[in-house]
Amino acid sequence: MSAATPPAQSPTERRVSARVGSISESATLAVDAKAKALKAAGRPVIGFGAGEPDFPTPDYIVDAAAEACRDTRNHRYTPAGGLPELKTAIAEKTLRDSGYEIDPAQVLVTNGGKQAIYESFAAVLDPGDEVIVPAPYWTTYPESIRLAGGVPVPVVADETTNYLVSIEQLEAARTERTKMVVFVSPSNPTGAVYPHAQVEAVGKWAVEHGLWVMTDEIYEHLVYGDASFTSLPAVVPELRDKCVVVNGVAKTYAMTGWRVGWIIGPKDVVKAATNLQSHATSNVSNVSQVAAAAAVSGSLDAVAEMRTAFDRRRRTIVRMLNEIEGVVCPEPEGAFYAYPSVKGLLGKEIRGRRPATSVELAELILEEAEVAVVPGEAFGTPGYLRLSYALGDEDLAEGVSRMQKLLGEARD
Ligand SMILES: Cc1ncc(COP(=O)(O)O)c(C=O)c1O
Repeated sequence: MSAATPPAQSPTERRVSARVGSISESATLAVDAKAKALKAAGRPVIGFGAGEPDFPTPDYIVDAAAEACRDTRNHRYTPAGGLPELKTAIAEKTLRDSGYEIDPAQVLVTNGGKQAIYESFAAVLDPGDEVIVPAPYWTTYPESIRLAGGVPVPVVADETTNYLVSIEQLEAARTERTKMVVFVSPSNPTGAVYPHAQVEAVGKWAVEHGLWVMTDEIYEHLVYGDASFTSLPAVVPELRDKCVVVNGVAKTYAMTGWRVGWIIGPKDVVKAATNLQSHATSNVSNVSQVAAAAAVSGSLDAVAEMRTAFDRRRRTIVRMLNEIEGVVCPEPEGAFYAYPSVKGLLGKEIRGRRPATSVELAELILEEAEVAVVPGEAFGTPGYLRLSYALGDEDLAEGVSRMQKLLGEARD
């Protein structure tokens, strides 16, 4: 019986619907909650779980929001699809940052990137449509696809290719039921960034087979070293009619709590998604939308500062993780995550226990070293851990030192 098959009960006996009951808890939020609970209980836990910058939102954005609170226009409902001035600002920002020219009517402002992802799949998929999802994947994609009736089809890439999937792998996963492919660069959880030529190749392959693409660009400004961000619809214009871009202010402007994201897509899809949102949540908080408009219209100086700090932490964490025997951590080129393989540690004895899976290893690390990390199971690839390096330099060094000490005790 598949997870979506309703149990043999009458409708009145069934308490939670099969559709929603089959969704699992967000593993990343669960780890974060457990770490915070331990911390609240007085334990010196260091958390590498959270996917959010540790910086405050820049002042110019907060000031715009404070002013917006006093404007009575913002005390009322506004258009469900977003404030017109924010849609225009998003169109201008997209041209500035991606070289992709769009009409504001192609924008839907959502309650964070998460709602944008959910609504993108809901607007495009019919029951049974397959969606190719490169793995390791961000934990929300498969659940949103399933909620929309779609079938996620993971395509796994490992550390030997820096977590980049090839066209051959994508092609091997394609069937007559394939409707869409998910493309995320820079990636959560791996930090992988696809080179320009590979982005173009993925787009051309999608066009050749008439596939839709949902591309998540939320980490566009967090790339390091020689890596650069490439927007798929900008480099493959033939794809635009079947391309849905997801983006938001959370990561670039340290605005995770403000809840503003958006969809850019063909007008019919954006209209359908707007209709859906008009019944689900209506407009995103006006104050947050005004803040987001200030953010995307302002300079990129604040993100440049954050990027410098993240880059420094990135180098430290990768070096320190690779010093642990049994850990292999490719250098992430974007976002703020390291995704080491810990396969070399599984089955070894550590403090009287033998963790057989990365879930068990993450539990051991939390209990023995008081360090919170997310196991690879959450991202469709057991045998790995995700560590967010969006935390202070001292905490970061202390946390990985504790892991070094604990994992250095591993014996056959
Ligand atoms: C790849 C990716 N997309 C989208 C989001 C959603 O961000 P938000 O809903 O906070 O805007 C996240 C958050 O962790 C993410 O990592």
